[in-house]
Amino acid sequence: MKIALACDHAGFELKEKVKKYLTGKSFEVRDLGCYSADRVDYPLYGEKAANAVASKECDAGVLICGTGIGISLAANKVRGIRAAVCSEPVSARLAKEHNNANIIAFGARIVGEETAYAILDAYFAASFQGGRHAERVGIISDIEEKNFK
Ligand code: RB5
Repeated sequence: MKIALACDHAGFELKEKVKKYLTGKSFEVRDLGCYSADRVDYPLYGEKAANAVASKECDAGVLICGTGIGISLAANKVRGIRAAVCSEPVSARLAKEHNNANIIAFGARIVGEETAYAILDAYFAASFQGGRHAERVGIISDIEEKNFK
């Protein structure tokens, strides 16, 4: 499984740890930056990862900024992206099972390293449940079609 990984300066340190963690679990990680703790603009990195997922170059995305919020908001502006900000593993599992989130985001100023790993484990172990959830995700896509001209 190929993962698009991106962060801003606030997420840089945790992103480096997450990269090692995921690589150690045999994921193929595409590191889309940023590549230092120098200040950058999180929307650009959210967009990069979102494009990699939307184009199917990558199977899923992991985004990290200070809170996980800004970078996921930017990613969600790309058609076909469902980026979920999660601060604990139960939401991460449900983001996949119910919402078929194709990007998981969290905040380096919100979660510690071990919680970040627990979020990733829960998200990647989960499968989309389909059924009524697929209908609702379909409604999200319909809204996207209506509004993303
Ligand atoms: C950067 O200071 C911070 O605003 C950013 O990492 C993120 O938390 C935005 O949502």
